[in-house]
Amino acid sequence: MSAPGPVVVGISGASGSLLARQTVDTLLDRDVPVALVCSNDAKLVWQEEMDEPFSEVLSRWSETPHFTSYGIGEMKAPIASGTHPVRGMVTVPCSMATIAAMARGLATNLLLRAADVSLKEKRRLVVVPRETPLHAVHLENMLTLARMGVTVLPPEPAFYLRPRGVDDIVGFVVSRIMVALGLDDSLPREYQYLGPSS
Ligand SMILES: Cc1cc2nc3c(=O)[nH]c(=O)nc-3n(C[C@H](O)[C@H](O)[C@H](O)COP(=O)(O)O)c2cc1C
Repeated sequence: MSAPGPVVVGISGASGSLLARQTVDTLLDRDVPVALVCSNDAKLVWQEEMDEPFSEVLSRWSETPHFTSYGIGEMKAPIASGTHPVRGMVTVPCSMATIAAMARGLATNLLLRAADVSLKEKRRLVVVPRETPLHAVHLENMLTLARMGVTVLPPEPAFYLRPRGVDDIVGFVVSRIMVALGLDDSLPREYQYLGPSS
């Protein structure tokens, strides 16, 4: 039986708003409760990358019964406390600034505090880092998180599955997130490597 409570979804200001939208859509389609927290810079990136404005997607999600959204400065939100039950947390996409803060225990906004709580309570925490190229400090911070049990899940395409476009890549990454959160035991068949195609 999966743990009670919502999946906390953090959206930070890295490129990849499509990944964030599909992660939340997938969780809500499955009736998994979602507690969303989005950084200010994530909203700027969303504006650059998405046709659907953030305010509209927020209204759409808010119509579903299991969705709650918190402001980035709302430090009194339940997800800021280790006593509040949550199933797990994913930050998608995850900026290098947010990775650095998580790795150093800087819980200076609600997204970072929720991640810090996940770490101290030894709960499932998934980060989907997006930056290229990576310098040594980026890599060190990700190694620090991996050593603390965090799943570091870069949004890499599975080229061997011959993705036909961005939708295939996003679908693959979000399926990987579902497995990393413990919501699925395995990837759907379309994202499994089934051997040589010839
Ligand atoms: C359009 C745009 C794209 C960005 N893409 C990335 C990115 O892919 N990775 C990254 O680490 N930062 C990226 N940044 C920079 C972050 O938004 C910036 O470092 C910010 O302070 C991160 O804060 P946050 O983690 O609290 O959202 C981008 C910024 C903009 C405006």
